[in-house]
Amino acid sequence: MNLKIELSQNRKPKPTDESQLGFGKIFTDHMFMMDYTIEKGWHDARIIPYGLISMDPAATCLHYGQEIFEGLKAYYAEDGSIRLFRPEENFKRLNDSCERICIPKIDEAFALEALIKLIEIDADWVPHQDGTSLYIRPFIIGTETSLGAHSSTRYQFIIILSPSGAYYATGLNPVKIYVETDFVRAVRGGTGAAKTGGNYAASLKAQDMAGEQGYSQVLWLDGVNRRYIEEVGAMNVFFVIGDEIVTPELSGSILPGITRKSAIEILKSWGYQVSERRLDIQELVDAYHAKTLKEAFGTGTAAVISPIGELKYHDLLMNINNNQIGEISQRLYDTLTGIQWGKIPDDFGWSYRVK
Ligand code: PLP
Ligand code: COI
Repeated sequence: MNLKIELSQNRKPKPTDESQLGFGKIFTDHMFMMDYTIEKGWHDARIIPYGLISMDPAATCLHYGQEIFEGLKAYYAEDGSIRLFRPEENFKRLNDSCERICIPKIDEAFALEALIKLIEIDADWVPHQDGTSLYIRPFIIGTETSLGAHSSTRYQFIIILSPSGAYYATGLNPVKIYVETDFVRAVRGGTGAAKTGGNYAASLKAQDMAGEQGYSQVLWLDGVNRRYIEEVGAMNVFFVIGDEIVTPELSGSILPGITRKSAIEILKSWGYQVSERRLDIQELVDAYHAKTLKEAFGTGTAAVISPIGELKYHDLLMNINNNQIGEISQRLYDTLTGIQWGKIPDDFGWSYRVK
């Protein structure tokens, strides 16, 4: 497919203090855009100056949430190269989300090529300071002008780039998590396994309520029994129980995280017993009382590893590893970020060189 390029004549000043970037607040000079109509399929791929998009107030995405997105990062590596981490996995998952939300699939290889071109054009925006990266947000929206509740006949696929710092201001410090026993994020048969905006809207209420009580995030339980652990906030979750490392199996309501998948491979390569299985919250409580609950952490692109220092389940406060980051969590963080920033050998072949 042809990719048209229109360079911006009006470049924005770059952030001068990279320690103040925050997450997803500043955007680069350019963006990628492509349109879909039934007659033409995906067409008119273009890189254009970053700016407002206009759409009809009756566009389907504004009313019925027909939207999906991805999240990945470009890293400025020690050798001066710019690298991505397993980007094919993100475009594959974008297409899986397309399938679930009835959006026409994109050409994954072309999307990656377009992203690389976009990053090359905005390469000066990739921050250099330790811990910073260029957060990449591909997304697709339904843009047909229609209030009928049906899948759209028109779409836009857009990629924007945001130089970002740590997702959590607290960095790698363990977070306090509230075990949510009332609200649920997703149910089997629903959209939990797709990266669609509605899942995040559905999670805000519980997150706000947990926040009011001083908790960073919630631990989601399954929607039927309110018993089996699913995810933590917008991250996958792992527990070290005795000699076993457990993460909930992909039940259909859990997002298949790329960091999750990578963490499982790394942990197995180190000889750990990693189980993807159903995990009852009661088993966690029992492990806590038996002192075999050693570590807990979330995994996701934005924060990489987020250690859990405390879990509140009804009236029980479970303190984990003395509120310190555990040995396995730290080693996993060092290894994942080491590969991402090109600081250690990439034995898995996950680092993707852009330039
Ligand atoms: N779970 C949810 C709900 C998420 O939004 C994310 C983030 O993208 C993840 C898990 C982690 O996925 P990944 O490791 O691919 O970033
Ligand atoms: C993640 O990358 O871990 C996320 O959950 C992305 C978030 C900003 C929605």
